[in-house]
Amino acid sequence: MNKDTVKGLMKAFHEAPSGELARIIVSSLVELNEPKEAVSFYNNSESLFTSSTKLSIADLMIQKELHEFALVFLDTSLAGHLIKRAECYLWLEQLEEAKSAYQQAVAQDDSLVSAVLARQLGLMNTEQERPKLKVVEKSDVASITDLNRYKQETTDFSDVVGLADIKKQINKKIILPFQKPSLFQKFKKKVGGGVLLYGPPGCGKTLLARATAGECKAKFFNIEISDVLDMYIGESEQKLHAIFEKAREDTPSVLFFDEIEALAGKREHSRNSSTANIVSQFLTELDGFAQNNHGVLVLASTNVPWAVDAAFLRPGRFDRMFFVPPPDRSARQAILEHHMKDRPCESGIKYGAIAEKAKGFSGADLHNLVEMAADEAIDEAIESGEDSVITQQHFSEALKDSRATTIEWLTTARNYARYANDGGRYDDVLNFLKKHGR
Ligand SMILES: Nc1ncnc2c1ncn2[C@@H]1O[C@H](COP(=O)(O)OP(=O)(O)OP(=O)(O)O)[C@@H](O)[C@H]1O
Ligand SMILES: [Mg+2]
Repeated sequence: MNKDTVKGLMKAFHEAPSGELARIIVSSLVELNEPKEAVSFYNNSESLFTSSTKLSIADLMIQKELHEFALVFLDTSLAGHLIKRAECYLWLEQLEEAKSAYQQAVAQDDSLVSAVLARQLGLMNTEQERPKLKVVEKSDVASITDLNRYKQETTDFSDVVGLADIKKQINKKIILPFQKPSLFQKFKKKVGGGVLLYGPPGCGKTLLARATAGECKAKFFNIEISDVLDMYIGESEQKLHAIFEKAREDTPSVLFFDEIEALAGKREHSRNSSTANIVSQFLTELDGFAQNNHGVLVLASTNVPWAVDAAFLRPGRFDRMFFVPPPDRSARQAILEHHMKDRPCESGIKYGAIAEKAKGFSGADLHNLVEMAADEAIDEAIESGEDSVITQQHFSEALKDSRATTIEWLTTARNYARYANDGGRYDDVLNFLKKHGR
């Protein structure tokens, strides 16, 4: 909807005011990034808004990080509204107001009790909450200094074929704030924030994260699950804490958690209480309130975003989610050509035609296809005892033995996007499916 359409709606509204029309107008103004106009329209027609409509508009505002405007729409006595007020005040760093709103909300409705929120507000004894976390001494931090091995990272965006949109977003939201200290101020606003890359396996999430590190020249800590998980109860939480401490000491830095679902899986799915402890430790580390995360960016990737505990996706944590889609035809062709660089091959291989046949192939599938074609060529050289090069025929043979691995993921993702699309979390997936006619 554009500004003119909204003006048309406003005219219609003045002729025949209705609650539904008022709701559409206000939401559209928010979508158009006109929060002030939205509020002034609302102030003139407040009686037409039901409390649930107000709540949904406030949600929209919160999603857009317009917390001070969201407050206008939130009632000061209803429990459901009060808990959102608490969230807004917390974001605005008005701790006293946040505490009071939270306490009023849970006094009315105890199902709203949130351990995480309470902890952020300092309303919970942290020792009680995470009994297994010991105080981490400096010497413990030293035991993980080998994380430094990731500091020198040489990949950059030129190794990631396609994905122009995401690169642009990453550039704006991650790299620029690192490169331009004046813009760092803006980054500071996002203290404790994180970015979650999600998408089908083998489509470049890990590659992108590594390239991001190379581009922004920040210290990059690539955390593997084995760096964190420990067989001794309580040790994993300690390690996680030490890792974050290390990053905080060494800013600007990026912590990259690959396959984060292993550490941040849904608590209700785990019968194992130590997993739940790691999740709550992780949340504590991410929250800028308890910790000084200034200059620490947390990047994570997963191919099962729906298995990640929803608490991670709230504001201030991994609130920016980027969909890393499977490559389209031209990207598939470019990836093939990229991986064929410097390999001996006959001239005139029709990469376009191969890409066409490789529908649904991920970047990793395509890389594998090139490897298989190369194997065919090597076999031929061994058999004939003569030099050989990779040919179109080798690709045809390789294609027979390969299959696309992204289809299954997209089918699952479509169901989540359709039936569990919380606040538009998977809109990018829906747009992708629509564009590619699935
Ligand atoms: N856009 C791309 N450009 C070039 N190569 C790519 C691209 N996407 C994937 N590849 C190839 O596929 C390999 C696997 O990609 P990567 O490890 O980044 O996938 P992923 O999305 O992290 O998968 P998973 O979810 O399984 O961890 C890369 O090492 C690279 O060879
Ligand atoms: Mg990966």
